[in-house]
Amino acid sequence: MEISIKHARPEKISAACLIVGVHEDCKLTPEAARLDKASGGQIKDILNRGDHKGKPGNALLLHAVRGIAAERVLLVGLGPQAKEDSLALRKAVAAAARNLADYGVREAAFCLPWGKPSRSGGLRRLRDAVVSLRDSLYRFDRLKSRPEEGRSDLQRVLLGLAPDADTDAAEQALNHGMAIAAGMDLARDLGNLPGNLCTPTYLAEQATQLARDHGIGCEVLDRDAMTELGMHSLLSVAKGSHQPPRFIIMRHRGNGKKPPLVLVGKGITFDSGGISLKPGAGMDEMKYDMCGAASVFGIMKMAAMLDLPINLVGLVPATENMPGGSASKPGDVVTSMSGQTIEILNTDAEGRLILCDALTYAERFDPAAVVDIATLTGACVTALGHVATGLFANDDDLAGELLEAGTRSHDRAWRMPLWDDYQEQLKSNFADMANIGGPPAGSITAACFLSRFAKKFRWAHLDIAGTAWRSGKDKGATGRPVPLLAEFLLERSRRRPR
Ligand code: BES
Ligand code: MN
Ligand code: ZN
Repeated sequence: MEISIKHARPEKISAACLIVGVHEDCKLTPEAARLDKASGGQIKDILNRGDHKGKPGNALLLHAVRGIAAERVLLVGLGPQAKEDSLALRKAVAAAARNLADYGVREAAFCLPWGKPSRSGGLRRLRDAVVSLRDSLYRFDRLKSRPEEGRSDLQRVLLGLAPDADTDAAEQALNHGMAIAAGMDLARDLGNLPGNLCTPTYLAEQATQLARDHGIGCEVLDRDAMTELGMHSLLSVAKGSHQPPRFIIMRHRGNGKKPPLVLVGKGITFDSGGISLKPGAGMDEMKYDMCGAASVFGIMKMAAMLDLPINLVGLVPATENMPGGSASKPGDVVTSMSGQTIEILNTDAEGRLILCDALTYAERFDPAAVVDIATLTGACVTALGHVATGLFANDDDLAGELLEAGTRSHDRAWRMPLWDDYQEQLKSNFADMANIGGPPAGSITAACFLSRFAKKFRWAHLDIAGTAWRSGKDKGATGRPVPLLAEFLLERSRRRPR
């Protein structure tokens, strides 16, 4: 899909469908008001009949509007006028996208109130609209032998700018929006791809491809290299599988020799639970256990596309967790790369076993901060549902930045405690620690486990078990937390200019 921007008078735009906004109580946006005037009051007439209440998500398609160039007009609700609401705008764009897809419209123009440039210089609402539009139009049909019937793609989109709008700010917003959307698309594609196709080897190939396409650095470690480094905790998870593990290192260099931000993504390409086998129902969803890794791929792509002036390292420990004959057994003790020993009481608590070695590996970059992203615990879903990502951090400033980024991108996180009191649950009689802490506070004890490998840097952990994908009839990867991380990186790029 091609998206362009242009200064244009709404009534003069000759698109198959023109989208304009209306607020609650029949209040027209300036763009809708222009159409109303050109049509001799037709829009107001229709609104006065009460067919459209201006609620976010409402959409009404109008044909044969007089005096304008577009073939159709789609009125979308923007909620109360007083509230300059980016969320309402995003909902309106999503509703428009659904309608356009249903009607099979191939070419559309959006004339919505994009607001004033934000302190970053971009038109934030325009950027959000681009992300929302592409988010709504996303489909994963590459594994169907023929594409779904009756759905025709939106090919061209014009974003109409008010006469006084700043072109540079709009341009920047469009670029940012397209890069964030590309990152989300990649994260969703990798997540949705099933375990038989998206293996550790496949992820490594994707990293190589990403490096080639976008000029980022990439290195892939195989089992021997990991053995050499002493990553025995990670390797213990890979033992039960026929798929060889991979450790992927990606680098975006945008700020000389400055310490990088390191992102670590859990890359379990399928989590059967291992010998502590999971129940059968819904086990297919454990193909999503590499969504943390997928979000790291997405963010690397976004950072490279925008050539962000920051140094970024993406680490992805990738393996299956399978119950093969040589799999780890409950009670096994392994030595992590850090030297700390771990008693594996439950082989289904495998995410922390691969992440701990990746965190130790991160030390070599002398990182400004490390953020790991993982579908780590069912307990996090119990605690926060599918709304918020669980956030844990050993540094209040870093936690604050991530929370703020989540709020602004509407990809929210909620901070959970990492108090020492919880560490006691990880006590083992036979090793330095156990890999599980029992039923109470499962997402916190998982984070406590990781914290023991994150002592040498500022660190945050995002538990995305509840937010990375949807179940049920809309089953599919969401692309979260790419918007949160994108916002976080954009903010850091602004604060640390070249
Ligand atoms: N990948 C799962 C976590 C998960 C489960 C995410 C369900 C989303 C939905 C993780 O590897 C796991 O199995 N965790 C266990 C930990 C337990 C054994 C301490 C869990 O949450 O049950
Ligand atoms: Mn597991
Ligand atoms: Zn898992």
